Amino acid sequence: MQPLTSSPAYQALQDAYERLRHIPMRELFAADATRFERFSCAAAGLFLDYSKNRLDASSLDALLALARERGVVEARADMFAGAVINRTEQRAVLHTALRNRSGAPVLAGGRDVMPEVLEVLARMAAFVADVRQGRWTGYTGEAISDVVNIGIGGSDLGPLMVCEALRPYGHARLNLHFVSNVDGAQLTEVLRRVRAQSTLFVIASKTFTTQETLTNARSARAWLLAAGALPEHVARHFVAVSTNAEKVAAFGIDTRNMFGFWEWVGGRYSLWSAIGLPIALYTGMDNFEQLLAGAHAMDQHFRDAPLENNLPVLLAMLGIWYVNFFGTSSQGVAPYCQYLHRLPAYLQQLEMESNGKSVQMDGKPVEYPTCPVIWGEPGTNGQHAFFQLLHQGTALIPVDFIAPLRAHHALAEHQLLLLANCFAQTEALMRGKTPAEVRAELSAQGLSGEALETLLPHKVFGGNRPSNTLLMDALTPQTLGALIALYEHKTFVQGVVWGVNSFDQWGVELGKQLAGKIEQELRSGQIGAHDASTAGLMRKTLAALG
Ligand code: F6P
Repeated sequence: MQPLTSSPAYQALQDAYERLRHIPMRELFAADATRFERFSCAAAGLFLDYSKNRLDASSLDALLALARERGVVEARADMFAGAVINRTEQRAVLHTALRNRSGAPVLAGGRDVMPEVLEVLARMAAFVADVRQGRWTGYTGEAISDVVNIGIGGSDLGPLMVCEALRPYGHARLNLHFVSNVDGAQLTEVLRRVRAQSTLFVIASKTFTTQETLTNARSARAWLLAAGALPEHVARHFVAVSTNAEKVAAFGIDTRNMFGFWEWVGGRYSLWSAIGLPIALYTGMDNFEQLLAGAHAMDQHFRDAPLENNLPVLLAMLGIWYVNFFGTSSQGVAPYCQYLHRLPAYLQQLEMESNGKSVQMDGKPVEYPTCPVIWGEPGTNGQHAFFQLLHQGTALIPVDFIAPLRAHHALAEHQLLLLANCFAQTEALMRGKTPAEVRAELSAQGLSGEALETLLPHKVFGGNRPSNTLLMDALTPQTLGALIALYEHKTFVQGVVWGVNSFDQWGVELGKQLAGKIEQELRSGQIGAHDASTAGLMRKTLAALG
């Protein structure tokens, strides 16, 4: 395959960029009364308005041509077919099988994985029913009141984000807690709020070797025993979710209390597997299955829809447009929905751990930028914090606005205000405010002369700042499933275009290795060979901790 930057579509996009870079979106809207209809698209309960982008029909065509040239169509088919597309780890990538509701087989290495997938779902359903209906009890016979998920990265962020998003569907008796950080403060604060007799720990780790998770799990078990439980009671309070039965058993959890998944499920793509157990416990198995169904609907759309109407492809190629042609290095996410407050953190792992790469699949360095920094906060809070920079800062930062139209609460006035603010921000970013408009406004306020001229430049908004708006009727398990799958596939498409492997994460290894060495040296008090900074920090630690 040709290098990305010398492909014909890339060249065409460079020309398109030169043509469009000085054209205000205001003019594009003024010139085309159908722009909203032309640049919007719906699928799987989601509606995407991408008309507020610095885009015209021919640049969109060139972006889609680039996707084709880079082999998105073939790569998509390979992923769904269970081909070994995670080549550095020699694995298929089949999180789509976890939510396959079609009844059709899904092959990995020539073997149908669906019977195992359905078997684990059935075991989860039975366990979830027992806990929710009070049949699964703690060591004193009390029903479970608190579930503590201990996991990190993909074994934390997905279930945490979804449980927060689906709070209106939460079980009245069950409180959910998430412990990820090896900073003992997090576990301590959770243990302060729960009672040993009625607490269930879910130890979630794909590998069951993750230092943070195992440290927290050991401390949780010690706490349970210190609270009066006997070793034989641990089985009633600890279940594991993992691909590694051997390590689960070695830790001391009965593998009958283990829910498995498979190496072809990447950590950050795993909330659809048994890693979603806290979601199922909290919202019920029916709702978990609705989440899967929503994701499956998006999978079908991604797999079958032509590229020009394909939501994940459109989102991905718009991202590429800004990163690789407009030189943006950051992407904002603004959910106008408090329940989605952990979505930006979840997307950070999804996109940055997947595509934060500078080496292509064939080992050659990339010669173009790849994944931007993903960040965000729920609106309207962000408006009163960092939106100043989005509107008037020097960096161009595209933003995805995400909003359910109908709320779960009865405060209709709030919902109207929330949506008004969401749409106003997209309009303000696109339109800006010209010097002439500011002058007229200040004059109308009675300002003139030097006072007006001094203030004027501060009140001008350049505008022409792009955004997407994603709407759904309401945030339900189904629409949430579709939303998450949309971003998963967006990430996949971008990885294909950039030519990187979106499914490995070697970049996290070096820090882990060095942490192990430093930990040993801090324990022994013998500082080994380090740079002066690291050695100095370690000396200070030894002096403080003794
Ligand atoms: O260190 C990164 C990572 O491997 C993530 O990719 C993963 O989601 C997380 O750690 C947790 O891994 P595990 O589920 O194996 O504990």
